Amino acid sequence: MSRGATSGAANGETLEFMKTVSETPAITPTTLVSHLIETDLLILPVFENDDLADEAALDAATGGAVASARARGELTGKAFEVFITVAQGWRAGRVALVGAGARKDFSRDRLRRVTLTGSLAARQRRVKKVAVVQRPDTGLSARDAAQVMAEGVVLANFDGTAYKTTNPATVWIESAQVRVIGEAAEIVAGIERGRVLGECTNLARGLSNAPSNVLTPKAFAARAQEIATNAGLTVEILDESRIAELKMGLLLGVASGSQEPPRVVVLRYEPGNATPGPVLGLIGKGITFDTGGISLKPADLMDRMKDDMSGGAAVLCAMAAVARLGGSVRCVGVIPLTENMPGGRAFKPGDVLTSAEGKTVEVLNTDAEGRLVLGDALWYARTLGVTHLVDVATLTGACVVALGKSATGLFGRPDAWRDRVLRASERAGDRSWAMPLFDDYKELFKSEIADFANTGGRAGGAITGALFVQEFAGDLPWVHMDIAGTAWVEDAKPYQVKGATGVAVRTLAELALDTEGWAKV
Ligand code: BES
Ligand code: MN
Ligand code: ZN
Repeated sequence: MSRGATSGAANGETLEFMKTVSETPAITPTTLVSHLIETDLLILPVFENDDLADEAALDAATGGAVASARARGELTGKAFEVFITVAQGWRAGRVALVGAGARKDFSRDRLRRVTLTGSLAARQRRVKKVAVVQRPDTGLSARDAAQVMAEGVVLANFDGTAYKTTNPATVWIESAQVRVIGEAAEIVAGIERGRVLGECTNLARGLSNAPSNVLTPKAFAARAQEIATNAGLTVEILDESRIAELKMGLLLGVASGSQEPPRVVVLRYEPGNATPGPVLGLIGKGITFDTGGISLKPADLMDRMKDDMSGGAAVLCAMAAVARLGGSVRCVGVIPLTENMPGGRAFKPGDVLTSAEGKTVEVLNTDAEGRLVLGDALWYARTLGVTHLVDVATLTGACVVALGKSATGLFGRPDAWRDRVLRASERAGDRSWAMPLFDDYKELFKSEIADFANTGGRAGGAITGALFVQEFAGDLPWVHMDIAGTAWVEDAKPYQVKGATGVAVRTLAELALDTEGWAKV
């Protein structure tokens, strides 16, 4: 899916711009009962204390293997446990019973993760054909179930080791059947939405995983041009001279230490039958590498800062998804792109920068660069006539301290807008948690000589970061998603491989695809 051209890599590297990191399987609905589904691995969710009454023939077909695994405690239905067995007389080569936890806790996200768990287990076993069965009476609509099952299969078909040359050939799932009981048209629509959202999430993961010598600001812009054009979006790339004309002093300040020129990617989605009223402005932090600049980061784990453009990738890939799915809400995407490097021309602590909007910022720490580039980008989005703003950024280590790695920090105003984005994130399976924006915290980033300082100290660091960004949102409804903790996974889980997660792609897409109730926010 994502084989691109060789880029002008930063140091003359000929590393391929982006290797194939994902393949989309053919996904089809089926209405067959389990034993008639022809596949290599049949994925069946099992709840805790599940009598499997709707699959009564299974135990006998497995020669009692299911009952005895139960008795041994090997099959308990605990979330994401996997038990694989052979079922005699079934058309499926094998059956994977995947723990789905307590029935009362079942949700769209649980089904997505159960599907991911089964599908990743399939790939590990070099299985290319799977089928996923939705159990009856789970409370999910057929459309939703089909969507998250499709998402799960596609998200499992992602390879984070794309730059190895010694890997045995990656095994991809080539086809997946999903069995959901319900109206065929609903199921087909759900599958299509899930497939596209899964693909676009994978696209963002590939971008975040790409090393910074491969994915420079210029290379990101070129890739954005390609992805956006293919999806039917309008793209405009602002180069360094246009950025200077616009007087984006915050972005230029951050970019000044790098040999790589900055870029701003501007995306537009203008559907023919647009929902009247809203123009959604999506802004994504696009630091292709964050060394910290003159306020240099320690060497430990600095390599991870290649993913400091994950917010930008989320905006790009979400907009591609919205266009491909024919959403009806107009969207504008703005992605400020630069490296943050030390060097003879780098901006320095104590420098005062002037934003395009005219506000001045005293730089107390060059490592607080994300809020600077976002400031100019939010202003630019507002000049393009957006009515609602969402920015996405790997903004603060403090957010990781506050919420850990399982939830995105979500800030915003008014409450109705914030809650709408929260609901979209819930639908998307991008866990988010509302954080406060009390004015009191603004004290913390006052400057003696400029309008603001770019840091507010350690206490409440995620909140002061958000409040700084808010200064550039004008009077518009605005939400800030701090994805510093959620963009990257260090410890693999049964449903999640290491590396970039593609967080916020599906949140932004679900938000834009929701056509109801815009008048109330
Ligand atoms: N990109 C980092 C934030 C980050 C940290 C993302 C860890 C992912 C994991 C951001 O630019 C940064 O350096 N923030 C500083 C802000 C501080 C200097 C006010 C931080 O969090 O330390
Ligand atoms: Mn930084
Ligand atoms: Zn950063």
